[in-house]
Amino acid sequence: MLNNKLIEFHTYVKDLSTSDTVMQMDHYMQHGDITTLEHVLAVSYVSFLLAKRLGADVRSAVRGAMLHDLYLYDWHIRTPDRAPFTHAFNHPAKAVENAKKYFEPTEKELKIVRSHMWPLTIFHMPTSKEAFILTMADKYCAWNESFGIYDESALRETIKTYMVYIKKLRAEKNKKQA
Ligand SMILES: [Fe+2]
Ligand SMILES: [Fe+2]
Repeated sequence: MLNNKLIEFHTYVKDLSTSDTVMQMDHYMQHGDITTLEHVLAVSYVSFLLAKRLGADVRSAVRGAMLHDLYLYDWHIRTPDRAPFTHAFNHPAKAVENAKKYFEPTEKELKIVRSHMWPLTIFHMPTSKEAFILTMADKYCAWNESFGIYDESALRETIKTYMVYIKKLRAEKNKKQA
């Protein structure tokens, strides 16, 4: 069962979080034992809390965060078109490309996605409060995931609860269609 904050969070992202495309991210690992889907949901939820606290455009902040790592491959696996160390620089453009291919993001959401690796991608600076929120939320989550801090956190409990919920919604939807 979702608490009130998760119910509100779900209203902003339900079309994305229950889609086949976003669900694909559960097959790729991000940091440690955390999939890209779990990472993206954690970053989106932190962006949701920050955007509310800072009086930002919550919808754009949360939806931009949901799409920010929509590159749809395992970045640990090297291929001829992915040279070592290029993922960090190249994946925001791939996420923008996939966001446009699979969904109907706003221009503002696309800019939020494109600048999320700043300052690494030095020429793609955040140009809105919501984009800046994502750069912070992403780094906060990546740091906590990489150093095991996320494992024991209330945030992980919250995200696990939400993942069970969206997987249940999808199972019900698939059952109806069968
Ligand atoms: Fe990223
Ligand atoms: Fe990320």
